[in-house]
Amino acid sequence: MTAPTAHADPAYACADEACLDGVELSALARRVGTPCHVYSASAIRQRIEAPQKALHGLDARICYAAKANSNVAILQLMAEAGLGADIVSGGELWCCLHAGIPADRIVFSGVGKTAEEIADALDAGVARFNVESADELQLLQRVAAERNVIARASARINPDVDALTHAKISTGKSENKFGVSIDEARDWFTNGTALTHVQLDGLHVHIGSQMLSLDPIRAALRRVSEFWRELAAAGHTIRSIDVGGGLGVCYRAGHDHPVSIDDYADAIREALAGYDGRILLEPGRWLVAEAGVLLTRVIRIKRGQQRQFLILDAAMTELIRPSLYDAWHDMVPLVDKSRPLQTYDVVGPVCETGDTFARDRTMPECKAGDLVMIKGTGAYGASMASTYNSRPLAAEVLLDQGRYAVVRRRQTLEEMVAGEQAAHDWEAT
Ligand SMILES: Cc1ncc(COP(=O)(O)O)c(C=O)c1O
Repeated sequence: MTAPTAHADPAYACADEACLDGVELSALARRVGTPCHVYSASAIRQRIEAPQKALHGLDARICYAAKANSNVAILQLMAEAGLGADIVSGGELWCCLHAGIPADRIVFSGVGKTAEEIADALDAGVARFNVESADELQLLQRVAAERNVIARASARINPDVDALTHAKISTGKSENKFGVSIDEARDWFTNGTALTHVQLDGLHVHIGSQMLSLDPIRAALRRVSEFWRELAAAGHTIRSIDVGGGLGVCYRAGHDHPVSIDDYADAIREALAGYDGRILLEPGRWLVAEAGVLLTRVIRIKRGQQRQFLILDAAMTELIRPSLYDAWHDMVPLVDKSRPLQTYDVVGPVCETGDTFARDRTMPECKAGDLVMIKGTGAYGASMASTYNSRPLAAEVLLDQGRYAVVRRRQTLEEMVAGEQAAHDWEAT
């Protein structure tokens, strides 16, 4: 593995993009094979530090949204930096505990928590539940009472604010399944005395993901802050306000302009001025997206009847965001930049027309075997992967200042079908 000479920014060491975190990417691809997800530990650490600095002086805790990338090595980076986690399933609870994130730094969100998941989270001792419905509140009360413990809970507010993002990742409009109205939450606090085993003393809001404007964030924070002031005036103690995640990142250079972390911190300070309880943040994408790239090789170029296709060995199985949200990802062929430009529809091998990474993308001409780097894939890439078309899960690699470690080996075909079996042991129920 070639370690390049020292650079000012270790995370993005080579100006020509041929290396990341001091590791030469074509050498890495030869060693590990493609497709493979690659993450820079240095870049993730830089991201973790930025909000910690920006929030200095506040009683703020960052709970990494594990769904963005739940590889154990990534979760361990978060644990090492003292972060907690925002989880949405029993599986994420297990993964976070397994990676060493202490239970008392874990918050549990999600509209479909089951009794079993709630029981496991209570047994583990999670910090709090972000409760999303009256039914869930009653279930939390019942499961906590059965165990004779007190569950700490926050009401997830749906502030009916448009996050100005893709409809499929917008969560704070009244038509969305997430959270409850302020009116309903008010009832919960007013009738809270019936909750013998739930301590309802927090508020939570998360209006969507990949937000590139502060306006909706400010609007949501304003609603939560007004509600907190109203509750405080009525004698309720609010020990925790969770402002969610959702900060957008740059997927398209020169086009996407993310909110600065300092402006975001200022918006929180401004909205929650006078609040002396704990503030929780749940960033996912912002911490890991730009720290990751997907390395893939060109299988072939196909001249179709109308369009020219660049067929990669990566597919929607490794990165579903373009298929799901028409998301843009910058792509860089790691080839001689003096090659003439060509325009391609960039596709994977999966048998879906939706298995398309980009249409009409202009880039240096590619040939079979060339390496292509798809950027901004550290979040919602591997964590949304599937084995559709019987494609084994890709390898994942963590880089750290010139070194690399395989943090998920490429799945073997046997591992892919482990648990499946022919139907020979028929049983009656
Ligand atoms: C409750 C909650 N918190 C945090 C996040 C993380 O969002 P993002 O990755 O955009 O920061 C999500 C994502 O959907 C979420 O549902």
